[in-house]
Amino acid sequence: MAKLFIDVESEAEMIAAGKTIAADLKAGDVVALKGQLGAGKTHLSKGIVAALGSADEVTSPTFSLVQEYQGGSLPIFHFDFYRLDDVSELLRLGWDEYLDEDGVILVEWADKFPEVMPERVYWFDLAIEADGRHTVTER
Ligand SMILES: Nc1ncnc2c1ncn2[C@@H]1O[C@H](COP(=O)(O)OP(=O)(O)O)[C@@H](O)[C@H]1O
Ligand SMILES: [Mg+2]
Repeated sequence: MAKLFIDVESEAEMIAAGKTIAADLKAGDVVALKGQLGAGKTHLSKGIVAALGSADEVTSPTFSLVQEYQGGSLPIFHFDFYRLDDVSELLRLGWDEYLDEDGVILVEWADKFPEVMPERVYWFDLAIEADGRHTVTER
C-alpha cells in the first residue's frame, strides 16, 4: 500500500487525517507519532478515537501517561512518552500487557523509545513547515 502523505491546513483537517488513518486499523495495531510540541499529534489522535467510535474527549495523556478509550469498535490505549525518562517506567506501567490487548495503541512522542515498538507499527512524522502548514508523513 502507498505510504500516506497529508498536507494539513487546519485543526479540523488534522482530525480528518486521523480518521483516514483509522480506516486501516485493526486490533493489535500500534500507531507511533513523532513531532514537536504543537505539531498535531493529539488532534490526529482525536480523529482516530472518533473514527473508531468512542465518544470520549481526547487530550494529551501527558500526566497520566496512558488514557484508555472504550465504547468504540476497538479499545484504544493512548500513550504520551513526553514525560517518561526511562523505558523501565513504561515497562512497569504494563507496556507489554497493553501490546497483548485486542485494541489499538496510539503513542505521542514514540520516537523517545522506538525500541519498545512491535514489528507491526505504523510510524507517522508530523511537522510544521516554514509556511506554517502541518504535514503528516507515513514512514
Ligand atoms: N494545521 C494544523 N494542524 C494541526 N494543529 C494545528 C494546525 N494549525 C494550528 N494547529 C494548532 O496546533 C496545536 C496542535 O496541538 P496538538 O494536537 O495538541 O499537538 P501535539 O499533541 O503534537 O503537541 C493546536 O493548538 C491546534 O489548534
Ligand atoms: Mg499532544
